[in-house]
Amino acid sequence: MKELNIKTTILSYQWDELSKEDQELLQAAKDMTKNSYSPYSQFQVGAAARLADGHVIKGCNQENAAYPSGLCAERTTLFAANANFPTTPVMSLAIACHTQGHFTENPGAPCGACRQVMLETEHRYNQPMRVLLYGEKATYVFKSASDLLPIGFFAEDLEG
Ligand code: THU
Repeated sequence: MKELNIKTTILSYQWDELSKEDQELLQAAKDMTKNSYSPYSQFQVGAAARLADGHVIKGCNQENAAYPSGLCAERTTLFAANANFPTTPVMSLAIACHTQGHFTENPGAPCGACRQVMLETEHRYNQPMRVLLYGEKATYVFKSASDLLPIGFFAEDLEG
């Protein structure tokens, strides 16, 4: 038996330590929480993706009376980015969560399905995608989506 250990690096920033570009992307994600359609959870999630050509694509969570039909902010945003700009890499994705009248103290953790979609997005463009998670206390920055989902499932895995 061998024990294999995984190391993940998280960069934890105070707001003033972030670059202006990252602050703008995070602010766009924060602003998008206002457009969230979340009458069932009352949990508003906003996301903003910066593409390699400078476009910023925004989204938020969309809920549904048939609960599983809804979609998280991250996937709403990445699918819109990939649908409208299918050849343009996504460089950074910012996410912010808001509930009960305020943004969450801690950075919101993306769900597993969103992590898998993030992974596919960076894989298809062969380009690391930074992930920025806003929290009132600190913002976490991951240099690559793969830092959020080690031992990911890729197209090559379908080949056995
Ligand atoms: N949600 C997101 O939009 N992103 C996540 O990563 C976690 C959860 C949404 C889904 C649902 O509309 C609400 O937050 C509560 O789970």
